[in-house]
Amino acid sequence: MNSSENHDQKRKPILSIRGGSKRFGGIQALDDINLDIYGNEILALLGDNGAGKSTLIKALSGAHTLDEGEILFEGKKVNISKPEDAHNLGIKTVYQDLALFGILDVTTNLFAGSEYTRWGFLQKKKMGKEAQTVLSHLKTTIKSLHQEVRSLSGGQQHSVAIGRGVFIGHEPKLIIMDEPTAGLGVKQSREVLRLLKELGQKFAVIFITHNLEYASEVAQRAVVLCSGRVAGVLDMAEANHNQIVSLMMGVDQVVGESV
Ligand SMILES: Nc1ncnc2c1ncn2[C@@H]1O[C@H](COP(=O)(O)OP(=O)(O)OP(=O)(O)O)[C@@H](O)[C@H]1O
Ligand SMILES: [Mg+2]
Repeated sequence: MNSSENHDQKRKPILSIRGGSKRFGGIQALDDINLDIYGNEILALLGDNGAGKSTLIKALSGAHTLDEGEILFEGKKVNISKPEDAHNLGIKTVYQDLALFGILDVTTNLFAGSEYTRWGFLQKKKMGKEAQTVLSHLKTTIKSLHQEVRSLSGGQQHSVAIGRGVFIGHEPKLIIMDEPTAGLGVKQSREVLRLLKELGQKFAVIFITHNLEYASEVAQRAVVLCSGRVAGVLDMAEANHNQIVSLMMGVDQVVGESV
């Protein structure tokens, strides 16, 4: 028995999509998607450009609604029609565009849009204390909460975006990261991957990436999408590069070693 089967028998999924479909005009972006994600696992979501990855996570984070199909969260059917619905369930998404305010400090960025106020005044002390806790969760190399975000490294900036997306507000249960290493150098990507692994110890994580090496390194399983359909679900301990690429391309076999 491989470990995917192990998963299926021993644990109940935290989130399942059943028959998920979504069309944009003439484009079938998602076509009858069935997918399970378990707690304490990192699931890589792979696929070529236009395969439907972002559409799928947008359906889970409330940016899009599915035309057909259902989403089950902790075994119950849920309706995710706006970002707040996802947030209230503990589904936290960190988009590729980090949307940070460069000239503002770390604490201000962490609480942007979710500031604590009392009698109309910002509760700076409370936010500072909580920001410290968030940073300790992230085990980041950021030295000071008062540092301007634009002066942080790319990896550290990602940590701030992850901290804000994941740890502020409702307790996280499922964390979705859309291309968190895109545009980062090797060292900075390592910092994000370390953080991802850390989060995968405690929460369910969906990790979208085009980098198959990173996917093999951090994910236990992978779902490969091709033209809006699930082309395969793989156990990363057993999957090989060629197999993944052939699923991404919608062909049975890829010839050659260079992929
Ligand atoms: N808002 C939209 N309106 C029309 N078509 C859309 C919209 N969003 C996505 N699509 C189409 O749906 C398909 C899936 O797109 P999606 O962005 O989900 O792909 P992706 O796997 O995230 O690709 P990439 O790796 O390039 O980010 C594509 O053909 C895309 O052009
Ligand atoms: Mg995308």
